[in-house]
Amino acid sequence: MSQPIKVAITGAAGQIGYAMLFRIASGGLFGPDQPVTLGLLEITPALGALNGTLMELEDCAFPLLHGVTATDQAEEAFADADWVILVGGLPRKEGMSRADLIRANGPIFTGQGQAINAVAPRARVLVVANPCNTNCLIARSHAPNLPADRWFAMTRLDENRAKAQLAAKAGVNVGEVSRMTIWGNHSDTQYPDYKNALISGRPATEVIPDHSWLAETFIPTVAKRGGAVIKARGASSAASAANAALDSVRSASFPTKGEDWHSVAVVSDGNPYGVPGGLMYSFPIRSIDGQAWSIVPDLPLDGDARSRIDASARELEQEREAVKDLLGPAL
Ligand code: NAI
Repeated sequence: MSQPIKVAITGAAGQIGYAMLFRIASGGLFGPDQPVTLGLLEITPALGALNGTLMELEDCAFPLLHGVTATDQAEEAFADADWVILVGGLPRKEGMSRADLIRANGPIFTGQGQAINAVAPRARVLVVANPCNTNCLIARSHAPNLPADRWFAMTRLDENRAKAQLAAKAGVNVGEVSRMTIWGNHSDTQYPDYKNALISGRPATEVIPDHSWLAETFIPTVAKRGGAVIKARGASSAASAANAALDSVRSASFPTKGEDWHSVAVVSDGNPYGVPGGLMYSFPIRSIDGQAWSIVPDLPLDGDARSRIDASARELEQEREAVKDLLGPAL
């Protein structure tokens, strides 16, 4: 059996954390032969709830779970982690503006970036907590020891939502949808790029002849799906967000199969699409060997796609401006 992989998770007693931990511990992330250890971080008042989750983890008797640390100290949770998944923060509530969320959550990521920098030299980091692109930028900016290509912000839930919508419209299994790119920010300005997506190996725009649905219904349905779930459930997406986080880590950890790609926000410096540098921006990504990745180049983009891609970049520049006092030395 190989050495355990250590996964550190913040906000571990929250609803996404609860939906994620048991799948990781049971082998649902790295497979049935790979042991894992967990480093769980919570704020002090939530340690009691986290302890209850620990009892449940213990009661599952997972053979692959080789150790758990639960703590309110970031450096203890992150020590020697292979992956750090930053989930902890305030979820968006109905009526809360994006600007409110940015200012409420931003400061958490300065300290957590510093802690990763100090104790987790080989870590790769996935930021889930919203606004995830900008939180990731803040954390990265405080971790000069970690190369920029180890930082990711999650747009996989948007990709999965987009695939589900296309599959339902085309009347096929969701596994038939490939090459689904989410460009930009995990926000309403994201661009779910159906024009480069495939359904059963054919362009989605050929399989779905209803182009007004694609342009006018599909895009806003995907972009506003998070809000629709909050409205229906009274709480933000949890199981689907946890699932997307595991998909993101898995896609980064294993080479991409065939000609497919996945979506995740990465550092925009030097990207082939003319998006300004210095942002965490979602692109079509291929994992080369489970460690290195590249942005899929040369996708055709028409004027409409271009203007959407640019609008999302402008929003991310505005978010960066709003938190510039929180940015550290590593940018
Ligand atoms: P939740 O409120 O159930 O859990 C958040 C947990 O984080 C709480 O247990 C809280 O005590 C903890 N926490 C707060 N500050 C912390 C800190 N400084 N260090 C460690 N833990 C801390 O929220 P939920 O539903 O689990 O969502 C978590 C985050 O994920 C939210 O920011 C939400 O907006 C985001 N999210 C992102 C998605 C994406 O696609 N990128 C999708 C869905 C949610």
